[in-house]
Amino acid sequence: MSVLVLGSSGQLASHLKELLPEADYWGRARFDLQNPAGLDEAIVAAAPSVIVNAAAYTAVDKAESEPDSAWRLNVEAPAAAARAAARLDVPLLHVSTDYVFDGTKAGEYAVADACNPLSVYGRTKLGGELAVRSLAPKHWILRTSWVFSEHGANFVKTILRLAATREELRVVMDQVGRPTYAGDLAALVARMAGGRRPPYGTYHAVGGAAVSWHALAERVVDAAARSQRLARAPRIVAIPTAEYPTAARRPANSVLMPSAELMSSLDVRFDWPSAVERVVGIVTKLR
Ligand SMILES: NC(=O)c1ccc[n+]([C@@H]2O[C@H](COP(=O)([O-])OP(=O)(O)OC[C@H]3O[C@@H](n4cnc5c(N)ncnc54)[C@H](OP(=O)(O)O)[C@@H]3O)[C@@H](O)[C@H]2O)c1
Repeated sequence: MSVLVLGSSGQLASHLKELLPEADYWGRARFDLQNPAGLDEAIVAAAPSVIVNAAAYTAVDKAESEPDSAWRLNVEAPAAAARAAARLDVPLLHVSTDYVFDGTKAGEYAVADACNPLSVYGRTKLGGELAVRSLAPKHWILRTSWVFSEHGANFVKTILRLAATREELRVVMDQVGRPTYAGDLAALVARMAGGRRPPYGTYHAVGGAAVSWHALAERVVDAAARSQRLARAPRIVAIPTAEYPTAARRPANSVLMPSAELMSSLDVRFDWPSAVERVVGIVTKLR
């Protein structure tokens, strides 16, 4: 089993390295996906037995002013990986996002619900899904949401950094989703890449309770305060999205319905509250 992972130092790729140390990791120094021409040839030459796409243009707001870059990384690169997977007759595991939905649904989003992205990032990620579906007969698309980790840049680490110096943090309370620990996602990906093969198709790789960004921030600060890592916990003030303007529009309801049968058949459990405690412990200890 030889696993080729696109991505090397991102959140998901960093955790995959711990679980699949023998896999081949292609970061941007190995292959710059801003220029994906030739990616399919390079992958075919490497001849892996499974391809994992952990690389993406993930800067949601910046994508609004760099749509071409986001398109190359989120559509053209997965399309090239999908062509290579088809030529090699091997599976491609591709990661997508809750931001393919517009957030207007009253309940949780099922896999088959209609997509209607609100942002350049969401539109390019949807384009990546469509390319993978149409070009790679053997594919898994794992949609996930609100990814955090001790590695890389994410909301949990931003809140910890701001909490150390501010008396008050104003955090959006009217966007709701399921946070995902990149280590939990990596455990699922590692099992699938390692040979546990669920049926090909699209899944929602999330778990645990849905929360607002405000509630997640409260949890982070509470965990830091309990572990006595904060001299003084800031007030976490709930604000509406209208008071926190951003370049990209985000769905108000980002809640993906977990693909429970996938999780149970692969014996994986997503537990973001425990992971928040762990990440807070690791990040604050490193300071
Ligand atoms: N972050 C979230 O909240 C979130 C939410 C929903 C879905 N997702 C999806 O989950 C997946 C993993 O996201 P993540 O949070 O692990 O992303 P991340 O931490 O932002 O890492 C991005 C990865 O993309 C690679 N990359 C970026 N530009 C590149 C370029 N020009 N050439 C080659 N590689 C490039 C990076 O390569 P290097 O290793 O060289 O740095 C890195 O490994 C993505 O598909 C993302 O869309 C993320």
